[in-house]
Amino acid sequence: MFCFAVEMFGLLFFVLMAHTAYGDVSYSFPEEMKRGSVIGNIAKDLGLDVNRLSSRKARIDTEGNRKRYCDINLNTGELTVAERIDREGLCGKKASCVIKQELVLENPLELHRFIFNIEDINDNSPQFKQSVIKFEIQESADKGSRYLLDEAHDADIGVNSVQSYTLQNNDHFILSVLTGANGGKYGEIVLNKELDREQQKEVTLILTAVDGGTPPRSGTVAIHVTVLDANDNAPVFSQAVYKVSLPENSPLDTVVVTVSATDADEGQNGEVTYEFGHLPESHLEMFFLDAVSGEIKLRRFIDYEEESSIELPIQAKDGQGLASRCTVVIDVTDVNDNAPIIVINSLNSPVPENALPGTEVGIINVQDRDSENNGQVRCSIQQNFPFKLVPSIKNYYSLVTTGELDRELLSDYNLTITATDEGSPPLSSTKNLHLTVADVNDNPPVFQEHNYRAHVQENNKPGSSICSVSATDPDWRQNGTVVYSLLSSDVNGAPVSSFLSINGDTGVIHAVRSFDYEQLKSFKVLVLVRDNGSPPLSSNVSVSVFISDENDNSPQILYPSPEGNSFMTEMVPKAAQAGSLVSKVIAVDADSGQNAWLSYHIIKATDPGLFTIGVHSGEIRTQRDISESDSMKQNLIVSVRDNGQPSLSATCALYLLISDNLAEVPELKDMSHDESSSKLTFYLIIALVSVSTFFLTFIIIILAVRFCRRRKPRLLFDGAVAIPSAYLPPNYAEVEGAGTLRSTYNYDAYLTTGSRTSDFKFVRSYNEGTLTADLTLKKTQSAVDDLEGLDAEMTDSFQVGLVF
Ligand SMILES: *[C@@H]1O[C@H](CO)[C@@H](O)[C@H](O)[C@H]1NC(C)=O
Ligand SMILES: *[C@@H]1O[C@H](CO)[C@@H](O)[C@H](O)[C@H]1NC(C)=O
Ligand SMILES: *[C@@H]1O[C@H](CO)[C@@H](O)[C@H](O)[C@H]1NC(C)=O
Repeated sequence: MFCFAVEMFGLLFFVLMAHTAYGDVSYSFPEEMKRGSVIGNIAKDLGLDVNRLSSRKARIDTEGNRKRYCDINLNTGELTVAERIDREGLCGKKASCVIKQELVLENPLELHRFIFNIEDINDNSPQFKQSVIKFEIQESADKGSRYLLDEAHDADIGVNSVQSYTLQNNDHFILSVLTGANGGKYGEIVLNKELDREQQKEVTLILTAVDGGTPPRSGTVAIHVTVLDANDNAPVFSQAVYKVSLPENSPLDTVVVTVSATDADEGQNGEVTYEFGHLPESHLEMFFLDAVSGEIKLRRFIDYEEESSIELPIQAKDGQGLASRCTVVIDVTDVNDNAPIIVINSLNSPVPENALPGTEVGIINVQDRDSENNGQVRCSIQQNFPFKLVPSIKNYYSLVTTGELDRELLSDYNLTITATDEGSPPLSSTKNLHLTVADVNDNPPVFQEHNYRAHVQENNKPGSSICSVSATDPDWRQNGTVVYSLLSSDVNGAPVSSFLSINGDTGVIHAVRSFDYEQLKSFKVLVLVRDNGSPPLSSNVSVSVFISDENDNSPQILYPSPEGNSFMTEMVPKAAQAGSLVSKVIAVDADSGQNAWLSYHIIKATDPGLFTIGVHSGEIRTQRDISESDSMKQNLIVSVRDNGQPSLSATCALYLLISDNLAEVPELKDMSHDESSSKLTFYLIIALVSVSTFFLTFIIIILAVRFCRRRKPRLLFDGAVAIPSAYLPPNYAEVEGAGTLRSTYNYDAYLTTGSRTSDFKFVRSYNEGTLTADLTLKKTQSAVDDLEGLDAEMTDSFQVGLVF
C-alpha cells in the first residue's frame, strides 16, 4: 500500500513537470508506465479546443522512429501511454532519454512537436557477467594479496546503478571496493588470512552488488577460490616409535612391521617414500624396507644372543624432499636355540685310588647362551659310578668322588655329563669324561697256594729245581711286580741258603746241595714275596721240602762184628734141643722203609742142616737136637740184605762152639784180639747184653700180644710171603711233624706191594733209640760227603730202623 502510494505520488509529480518549452511541449515521466496511463493533456498544454480535436482529426505522428509510444484521447486531449517505454532500451546509459513525438491536426493543418523526457526508474538489478568467478590461489599466497573482481553491471543509471558491493563473511578474505575512472564501482578481494589447502581446499564466497535505487536492487555472484597446494607439509608417521617384538630365528621375509607416514600435501608433494636412516652394515643386510609400502621384512635370521634389541631409524620423504623420522624398536625375544655347553675347566686325572670320598677331581662349567629359563641348566652324571656333581658357584660344578675307588676293580671311568636347560622343548648336551684311577700299592702279593710241598729224592744233583712258587699282585707295574726270596732261617743249625736258593723272578726253588735222607727227612722254609712298591708289601708262604729215601746205605751188621779178624764165638749147650735160640745176628740199615727192611740168610755153614736163621729176625736156632757126632766148632756165614732196589747186603761170620764149658775150648785162647779190636769187642759185648735184655723183654711183650690176638691171626701182606705182625720191619720214624699226608707218602715208598695198615707201624726215633749215637753216626757220616760239620745238627732228625 505504501509503495503504491509513493508511485502514484511520483506519477503526479512527473505530470506536473510537463511544461511548455519554447515552442515545444515536453513531458517528463518515468519509464515503464502502464499502457493507458495518462502522460499529460496536450490539448490543454497547446491551448487547443478539446471539442474540435476530433473534427480536426488530431493524431500522433512518429518522427523517424517507427514506434508510437502514446495515443491521444480525442475527447479529453490527454496523452496516454500506448507502448511500453523502457528507458534502458531506448537510451541505454545516456543520462537523459528523450523521445520526440508530433501531434498533427488538420483543418487547419497544424503540427506540434512535443518530447517525452523518459526518466529512469530502478527497474534493473546489478548483474555480473558470469555466474561464478573462479580463482586459483596458492596456499602460500601472502596476506594482503589482492584479486580483482569483475564489475557488476546495472542497466539503470545514476543512483540506480551499482552503488556498492558486499562480501559474504569469511575467514580469509575481505572486500575492497574501488571506483573506476568512469565512476563505476568494482571490488577486489584481499587475502586477510593465509590459506591452508590442507584445511580447506576451496573457498566459495557470495559477492553481492547493490544499486542505489529505492528500493535498492542487488545481484550476486559466487566467487570460487581453489586453494592450490604448496609443499608445506612434511610426511607424518602414524607413530613416533614403533615397538614390535620378534622371536629370534623368525623365517626370512617375515614382515616385522609396516611403518606408515602420511603427507597432507597432494600430488608429488604428498608422495611419501621410506628409507632407513643411518644403519650399521649388519642391520642393512638384515632388514629390507619397502620404499613405497613401508613394510620392513627380514632378510637374515636374527640371533637373540647377538642382539636382543634393535633400533631402526626410518625416514619418510615426500616428493619435494621434506622428511620426517620415526624409530622402529625391535625387541628380539629369546627362543631356546642354544644347547648348553659343558666345559671341563680342570680334571685331576688320574685320581689316586686311595682318594677319600668327597675328593674333588674336576671342575665343570656349563654355559647356555639363551636367557631366562632357556638358559637355566641342570647338570647330571650317571648314577652307577662313585662320582657326583656338586653345584658350586653359579654354573660351576665340582666333580667329587662319593666312594672308595679301587683301581684293581675298575681302573677307568667313562663319565657322561648331561646338561639340560629348562626351555621348552629343553635342549641338552653331553660330554664324556675319561677318568683314570692311579695305582697305589695297596695289595700285597698273594701266593697261589697256602703252602707248598716239594718232594725230592735224596742224592739229588745240586742245582736241580725242586719246585716253584708263584704269587700275584694286582697292583700296577712295579707296585705289582713280585720278587721272591728265602726268608733267612736255620735248618738244622745251618742257614737255609745252604740248602735252597730261589730265583727271585720266577719263584723256582733250587736245591743247593745234595740231600741225604738219612740226615734230613724234611724241612720247612719260608718264602717271602714282596712287590717293588714303596713301601713294598710282602707276604710269606711256607715250603715244606720232603726228602725221600734212596737205598744208598748197606745193612750194617752190629753183631757179630763183620770184621773177619775178630772171632766171636757163641756157646751152644750140647743139650740144646731143636729150635733153641743160639744166637742172633743184629744189623741195622740207615735207610728207611723197604730200603731198611733187612732179611737174613745163611749162605755158608759147616753143617748146613744144623742151624737156621730167621729171615727177618736174624735169630739163629738149632734145626735139630745136637748130637754127639756134631762137630764142636760150627762156622756160619750170614748175609744180611735190605729190600731196596737194587738191594745192598753185608755178610758176617759166626763161630759157634758146641760145648757146655768154655774151658773146653782151647782154641778160644787162640782167638786173641789185637789191641785195636779189643775195644770194639768190649762195646759189642755191651751191645749184645743190652740187646739181649731188650730182646727178652720184647719177646715177652710179643708173646703177650700174640696170646691176646690168638683167635684172629692176621697176615700183613696179601702177597706170597706171609709175615706175622710181630715180625714186621720197623717203620721209618718221622721226627718232624706228624702230618698224615707226609706219612702216607713215605709209607707208599716202601710198602708198594702191601696192603696199608697203620697198625703195623712201629715208630722209633733215634732219640728214643736203642743204640748209642756214636755207634750209628760214625757209620753214616762216612757216607755223607757233602754235609761236613753238620753231624751235630743231623742227629736230631736221623733215624735208624732196627730189625729183629
Ligand atoms: C671309554 O670310552 C673309550 C672311548 O670313548 C673306550 O675306548 C673305552 O673302552 C671306554 N671305557 C669303558 C670302561 O667303557
Ligand atoms: C705305586 O704306588 C705308589 C703309592 O703307593 C704310587 O705313588 C705310585 O705311583 C705307584 N706306581 C705306579 C706305577 O702306579
Ligand atoms: C709271615 O706272614 C705272617 C702272616 O701271614 C706274618 O704274621 C709273619 O710276620 C710273616 N713272617 C715274616 C718273617 O714276615
